Amino acid sequence: MSFSFQSIRFRLTTFYILIFFIILVFISILILWNYHGYLLLKGKSSLRDKSFVVGAWIDFTKPDFSHQADDYIHSQESPIAVGLYDRKGSLLGKSPSFPNELKFPVSIQNQIISIDEPVVYESEDGTYVIAANNLFENNVIRGFVLVVQTKHSILESFNYLLNLMLGCVAAALILAFIGGIYIINQMLAPLNRIIATVNDIQAEKLRYNRLPIINEKDELGRLSITINSLLDRIDKAMQSQKKFLSDAAHELRTPLTILKGNTEVSMMKEDSNKIPLSKNLTEINHLISLTNDLLLMARFDNQSVKLMKQRFDLSGLVKDALLNFELSFKESQIQLVENINEHVLIDGDPTLIKRVIYNLLDNSLKYRGAGKVIYVSLLKNNEKGSVLSIKDEGIGIPRNKIAYIFDRFYRVQEDRNKEIEGTGLGLSIVKSIIDMHGFKLEVESELNKGTTFTIAIN
Ligand SMILES: Nc1ncnc2c1ncn2[C@@H]1O[C@H](COP(=O)(O)OP(=O)(O)OP(=O)(O)O)[C@@H](O)[C@H]1O
Ligand SMILES: [Mg+2]
Repeated sequence: MSFSFQSIRFRLTTFYILIFFIILVFISILILWNYHGYLLLKGKSSLRDKSFVVGAWIDFTKPDFSHQADDYIHSQESPIAVGLYDRKGSLLGKSPSFPNELKFPVSIQNQIISIDEPVVYESEDGTYVIAANNLFENNVIRGFVLVVQTKHSILESFNYLLNLMLGCVAAALILAFIGGIYIINQMLAPLNRIIATVNDIQAEKLRYNRLPIINEKDELGRLSITINSLLDRIDKAMQSQKKFLSDAAHELRTPLTILKGNTEVSMMKEDSNKIPLSKNLTEINHLISLTNDLLLMARFDNQSVKLMKQRFDLSGLVKDALLNFELSFKESQIQLVENINEHVLIDGDPTLIKRVIYNLLDNSLKYRGAGKVIYVSLLKNNEKGSVLSIKDEGIGIPRNKIAYIFDRFYRVQEDRNKEIEGTGLGLSIVKSIIDMHGFKLEVESELNKGTTFTIAIN
């Protein structure tokens, strides 16, 4: 599996890691921020409590009261230190670890006096947290006490937590990266299989190569199904193309073989006037009409047939066609029953529509069987628009074959109409022309009863 920065795999992993990283950092900052605040609050409140306790250790009746608290202030070990001041703010006594550089600002002193409450504040450089309180005796201020702790020591567990969280975030990111790549690889594996299979597909093997469908409900499964159905359609189109080619070659070969035979026979005969020219002519005519049909279909296929649409009188066209068939009908002792409305005007290509009518009439005559009547009707403006129908009482089409009669070269049961000439192209041309016009073609047929073709023109 090759790696590329453009790949979905890379982009998904990066995106996912980035989101994960942002969420982790956000949560970590939230936790650390709250913990930091909590520790400071707790540290300050504990210093404040201590600032009350000192007073209990002092006997203010003694002249130098600071000595009274010596035991207590000396017992305070780093990081906590206590300093005692007199009313004027001069240092009287302190714990060993009390920072010498610490000054007791007058502003704080005044603040304590005015609000009569301990004041908790941070030293200017932010190194210490300090709780300052009054020392009272009989409602008289005797001095002040400062309880001091380094901020660093208050936040010691915060630093520990910070390091721990940095480590966790890094570990989580590495794990997420590895896990993410693994999961995304798993998810995209079918895609690589699709690419490989599609790459392998060759025109000749189109029939056999299909994509495996692992989960037909997910996107990749649906993509595989879509590609498979596309392959089916391409395969079908290629098969029908191949069949068309071989059928066409076959159709051309038969008359050519007959022509060749006739020519050879006539060349062997001394009297060349006896050449069965009429037979040759029939075959040549057949070849011409076949090549015309093939040509027309090829033009349908590459969509180079242009409709020369115009408004014309379909009634006239149908009547002309029937006149042309009159002789054939008479010869075949067919009675024609016609019901043709006058002046049915339609929009279409008269040359192509004429072809449709000729093909349908030709079929009704060819497949008339024992039928004696052919009905042709053209009715104006019923609910389907104008309707042209051609009905015979001939051999009919088996129900299961009706679906195929519009296929190229399809002829129902070759042996059944063996003696009836045809190539199986007529109806396929009819269908293409009707579709191009946007008309509707319907067929109803019953075996040995007859067939009706109906064209609805809207
Ligand atoms: N009116 C009909 N009655 C019975 N069968 C029909 C009728 N019209 C068509 N068919 C069947 O449908 C097949 C296809 O018809 P189509 O017109 O396409 O071909 P064809 O008549 O055999 O040859 P072509 O029209 O190319 O000379 C016919 O071979 C025939 O079996
Ligand atoms: Mg036909």
